[in-house]
Amino acid sequence: DWTPAAFVQETIARIQQEVGDKKVVMALSGGVDSTVAAELIHKAIGSNLYCIFVDNGLLRKDEFESVLDSYKHMGLNVKGINAKDMFYGELNGVTDPETKRKIIGRLFIEVFQQEANELKDISFLGQGTIYPDVIESVSVNGPSATIKSHHNVGGLPEKMNMKLVEPLRFLFKDEVRRVGKEIGISDIFLARHPFPGPGLAIRILGEITPEKVALLQEADAIYIDGLKESGLYNQVWQAGTILLPVQSVGVMGDERTYEFTVALRAVTSTDGMTADWAHLPYEFLAKVSNDIINKVKGINRVVYDISSKPPATIEWE
Ligand code: XMP
Repeated sequence: DWTPAAFVQETIARIQQEVGDKKVVMALSGGVDSTVAAELIHKAIGSNLYCIFVDNGLLRKDEFESVLDSYKHMGLNVKGINAKDMFYGELNGVTDPETKRKIIGRLFIEVFQQEANELKDISFLGQGTIYPDVIESVSVNGPSATIKSHHNVGGLPEKMNMKLVEPLRFLFKDEVRRVGKEIGISDIFLARHPFPGPGLAIRILGEITPEKVALLQEADAIYIDGLKESGLYNQVWQAGTILLPVQSVGVMGDERTYEFTVALRAVTSTDGMTADWAHLPYEFLAKVSNDIINKVKGINRVVYDISSKPPATIEWE
């Protein structure tokens, strides 16, 4: 019989035996998996776990600061790295979705490797790999491997010549959440929607600029806060805002405007492989649309995405 309590106890003992008094380095993403994995390793070896959390400039509004804060509150030995300019610089002028993913994946590895090299005597690499990641990366013909190149699985270990510590390798998502609850991880992490590794880069169609990121962050924050305030956040599997490379005419007061459009996306799903668009109440959509157009200068039109997966995907890129 699998229980979270027994799993936690056994896993901590196993990590202690495997790692001993050696050091482990690990990248955190702010997501459920890496957070739960880190806390398990932390419980086993304390401050011999060195965590790295990278700001790629493509996270949600205020996300880097607030997540870093939460990590510190958990007692994790974590270093926040501001690498925004590097990511913006290399993404400058890039419009192809797969090229964006590859650049972001490569830069992430570079930043992480550089930080890891500065720490001496590290022999282990911690990772939040869960069972579906293992299956997906094995089945080369799996949808995510061929349709979109996900960069959060693999990549790091081969190049780094370190032994892996992957405490969640045989768990499914719901089991990870139960383990997280068992070890006291906050709902801030456990109830969080999935968020893609390339972040807002694949929600800004076309060219990425820091100005567009700021615009999208504002609109996205209004939408996500609205979902939380209305009690709808936990009813959808994932939600986000997409900045379209389209300007259109509007009117604000006596002024003609010519500004950007954002699309709101919310889906219901169990595993992200298939998804239905969430039937959010019209009143809610109306309020969010008004709020975004009135508060975010640069956006004068909001649309709602009513496509299901398949044939659409959850992300637009
Ligand atoms: P799609 O758009 O393929 O998304 O329907 C399915 C789920 O995967 C997430 N996603 C990604 N996650 N790196 C990630 O870590 C990526 O490149 C990536 N692309 C999509 C997406 O947010 C959704 O949860």
